[in-house]
Amino acid sequence: MAIILDGKKLRDKILSELKLKIDKYETKPKLVVILVGENPASKIYVNNKKKTAEKLGIISEVLEYPENITETELLNKIKELNNDKSVTAILVQLPLPKHISKENVMNTITPEKDVDGFTPYNFGKLFSGETPTVYPCTPKGILLLLNEYNIKLEGKHVVIIGRSNIVGRPLSQMILNENATVTVCHSHTQNLTDIIKTADVVISAVGKNIIKGEMLKNDCVIVDVGIFKDENGKTRGDVDFESASQIASYISPVPGGVGPMTITSLMLNTIELFEKSL
Ligand code: GUN
Repeated sequence: MAIILDGKKLRDKILSELKLKIDKYETKPKLVVILVGENPASKIYVNNKKKTAEKLGIISEVLEYPENITETELLNKIKELNNDKSVTAILVQLPLPKHISKENVMNTITPEKDVDGFTPYNFGKLFSGETPTVYPCTPKGILLLLNEYNIKLEGKHVVIIGRSNIVGRPLSQMILNENATVTVCHSHTQNLTDIIKTADVVISAVGKNIIKGEMLKNDCVIVDVGIFKDENGKTRGDVDFESASQIASYISPVPGGVGPMTITSLMLNTIELFEKSL
C-alpha cells in the first residue's frame, strides 16, 4: 500500500511557521485578488485564499468585477494596484471571460507583485533557466510535497500529463531544474499508456479520471493535481486511488494532496514578494 503524500499536514506545518514570521513584521504584506465573473469554482478558491491569508496576518482584499467589465477597465485597475505602495502582491484569478486577453492582463501586472509567477517576465526567466521573482504556486507546492517525503527527481523519468500555463508548462521547467528527464503529455499524445508505464513519477493535471493502477510501473510516485466532481457529486482526482495505491510507492490523495500545497505556496510567495519589497 502506497504512502500518502499528505498536503494538509505539510500545509499546517509551513503555515504555522509563516504566521510566526509575519507576526514579527510591523508592516504587513497585502495580497489583492481580482475575481471577474461568477465561476463557482473560482469563487471558492478565492475565498480560501483570502481566509488563509487573513489567518496568517496578511492583509487580503478581493476585488470582484462583473463578467462584462471591459479589458481597459480591468487593466486600469491593475495599473492602479501596481502603483499602490501598500499592495505587495497581485493575483488575477483565472480563467478570465473570453473578451479579456489573458496575455494583456499578465503583461500589465508588474513582475515585482506577480504572486503567481505568470507574467511574461517571470515565465521568461523560468523558461530560460534563470530564477523568477517567485515560482508558480501549484508546481512549487508539488515540489515542496515531494521534497518533504525525500523523493528525489534527479535522473528519474517524470511524466507530466497536461500542458497548461498554470501547471504543466512551468512544472516541466522546474522538474528539469531538478535534473529529471521530463515527458509532457497532452490531449494529442499517442500511446499515453505506454509512456505512463515507463514513468518513475506521474503527475497528472487533466481534470478527468484517466489513470488506473494497471497502467503504472511498480513503485512509481503518483501526484494527482486533478480535482472535479463526478456524476454523484463526489470530489475526485485524475487517478483511481484504490487501484493506483496498490501499485505506487507514494500517492497524493484528492482532496488533501496538491490543493492545500497550492494555497501554501501562494502564502509563501506573498511573503517572498513582501520581503523583497522592504
Ligand atoms: N486558477 C486556477 N489555478 C490558479 C492559480 O494558481 N492562479 C490563478 N491566478 N488562477 C488560477
